[in-house]
Amino acid sequence: MTRTRITGTGSAVPENIRTNFDLEKMVDTTDEWITTRTGIRERRIAAEGEYTSTFATRAAERALEMAGVAAEEIDLIIVATITADFPFPATACLVQSNLGAKKAAAFDIAAACSGFVYGLSIADNAIRGGTARKALVIGAEVLSRIIDWTDRNTCLLFGDGAGAVVVEACEGERGILSTHLHSDGSYWELLYQPGCGSRNPAVQQTLDERKIFLVMQGNEVFKLAVRAMEDAALQALETNRLTPSDISIFIPHQANRRIIDAIGKRLGLGADKVYVNLDRYGNTSAASIPLALDEANRGGRINEGDIVLFDAFGGGLTWGSALVRW
Ligand code: UT7
Repeated sequence: MTRTRITGTGSAVPENIRTNFDLEKMVDTTDEWITTRTGIRERRIAAEGEYTSTFATRAAERALEMAGVAAEEIDLIIVATITADFPFPATACLVQSNLGAKKAAAFDIAAACSGFVYGLSIADNAIRGGTARKALVIGAEVLSRIIDWTDRNTCLLFGDGAGAVVVEACEGERGILSTHLHSDGSYWELLYQPGCGSRNPAVQQTLDERKIFLVMQGNEVFKLAVRAMEDAALQALETNRLTPSDISIFIPHQANRRIIDAIGKRLGLGADKVYVNLDRYGNTSAASIPLALDEANRGGRINEGDIVLFDAFGGGLTWGSALVRW
């Protein structure tokens, strides 16, 4: 049976670190509030001259190196992002050019923080359907450029970075076992960027009204996230006739430590099964799961045959899960 297997992981983050103590000097907040309410201690911020494609390309290069796959062999490049280099062309096309992945089809998807799981699902279907044999799925963001650094409700939450995987058609039992994707557009106003699209184009008025920045109703998002992520995790397990005790490692979207802990508790997972790195990176949206995956993988936390569960939730609203036998 042909399955889609993750054969390489990679990640890249900016060098520049912005700590909670730095934020104390920028807005009315404290390290104590941020740490206890979110679990975040610091985040990475892109420097001038660094773009979403910069980190996407670096992460992809590292994933290709681990997989032992040349860029020229890649059939498909999917970049999940809500902070593309340009409205168009797709950041995936810039990555294709940077890598020299000449035969690849390349496009972006905008599914916010669920983008990586969405991309993985699309690549899995392309591979099992036979239209691609080797693909790159990348989650990459430079959210710092759409954050209002005077808004304490949002500025402390987000960070920049990228994660990538190489996926390949393989025979056998190892690989992606299932993906489940969901959305509910009736909640679109809970988390969005009002400006720079066709409703509020990038003109002076949009800038003056500060509509270029991300806005979020954090409390509402929080409640919906816990329920939706639990549902998506259980759906993945039920589809594969598994139970939470079969999970070797749970890699959830990294938005808030309290959300992650609540889902871990509902699933009955010990802390040793739940991978958390948001203390160092904050919420990197589409990059968060592949960034955590790469850290866990390179840190020796994932072994052949392990059951790995990805669980995502974000603006849209969008959410979903992917279950993998490593
Ligand atoms: O990635 C996509 C999904 N995104 C998420 O999942 C984010 C989900 N939401 C969250 O993570 C949380 O809702 C936040 C971290 C954004 C906010 O935490 P909260 O526990 O929901 O706090 P809150 O907004 O209810 O505010 C509690 C209190 C308020 O004061 P009062 O009214 O109780 O006196 C706020 O004014 O904390 C105050 N507050 C702050 N204090 C210090 C809000 N922001 C800050 C701040 N520093 N930065």
